[in-house]
Amino acid sequence: MGSRGTFIIGTDTEIGKTTIAAGFAHLLKEKGYNVGVMKPVATGSKKYSDKFKSLDTKILITAAGNKEADDFINPFFYKIPSAPYLATKILLNSSKIDLNKIKKKYIELEKKYDFMIVEGIGGLMVPLTRDQYVANLAERLNLPIIIVMSNKIGTLNHVIMTTILCKNFKLKILGIVINNTVQINDKKFKKINDFLPQVVKDLTGLEILTVVPFLNKPSPSQTSVFLEKVFKRCFNKFR
Ligand SMILES: Nc1ncnc2c1ncn2[C@@H]1O[C@H](COP(=O)(O)OP(=O)(O)OP(=O)(O)O)[C@@H](O)[C@H]1O
Ligand SMILES: [Mg+2]
Repeated sequence: MGSRGTFIIGTDTEIGKTTIAAGFAHLLKEKGYNVGVMKPVATGSKKYSDKFKSLDTKILITAAGNKEADDFINPFFYKIPSAPYLATKILLNSSKIDLNKIKKKYIELEKKYDFMIVEGIGGLMVPLTRDQYVANLAERLNLPIIIVMSNKIGTLNHVIMTTILCKNFKLKILGIVINNTVQINDKKFKKINDFLPQVVKDLTGLEILTVVPFLNKPSPSQTSVFLEKVFKRCFNKFR
């Protein structure tokens, strides 16, 4: 089939890109779609396992339920917990990120699957090379974007910067997922959390596709329940 997919970007690192991407992969699998995943660039303090260099890749492929080789869905991995460009400066013999190589692998994968879910790394301006950022990767893959943001303090600044950047790079945004990575117990903070979706919608003019609550150790099946609107948005786009 091919040519259907989304690029999941975050307003920051550790805000739930993998959690949401894996939940969405699970949802599509449950609906009977053949879903492919990709984490083109990953970094980390160590290799996760012999089979998967990055834990994100393992989570994504397990949720999607397919058997692609790790090198194919994650062509670039750096064993330094930093932005990729910085990691390549430290790891002197490492290969430089090549967007053409990523695109080629993506095209191969896209041919095999009904829908592709690609996870970025960190936020949009994470440097991949001296002059290429995650935004350039999104541009090259030419996939519509889903922005994942969290409910932590500082998130409005990040989400507004992200939407401005998307416009500058002419990236098409499908909508925003607000992912509650922070548990809210205090009454005052609960009010802030309740008002957040409407304020994000007002400020960005974008659709809030869903608000995923704080979940203890979220699994793809747990998060998938909250992603029906993401599914509708992604699939209606093509009708
Ligand atoms: N809704 C949620 N409720 C509770 N914890 C969450 C939720 N979403 C994500 N988390 C937790 O937050 C942490 C970061 O999530 P995740 O790995 O999905 O973020 P990420 O944006 O993909 O990070 P990275 O930038 O490293 O790729 C994980 O421990 C995850 O289990
Ligand atoms: Mg991740």
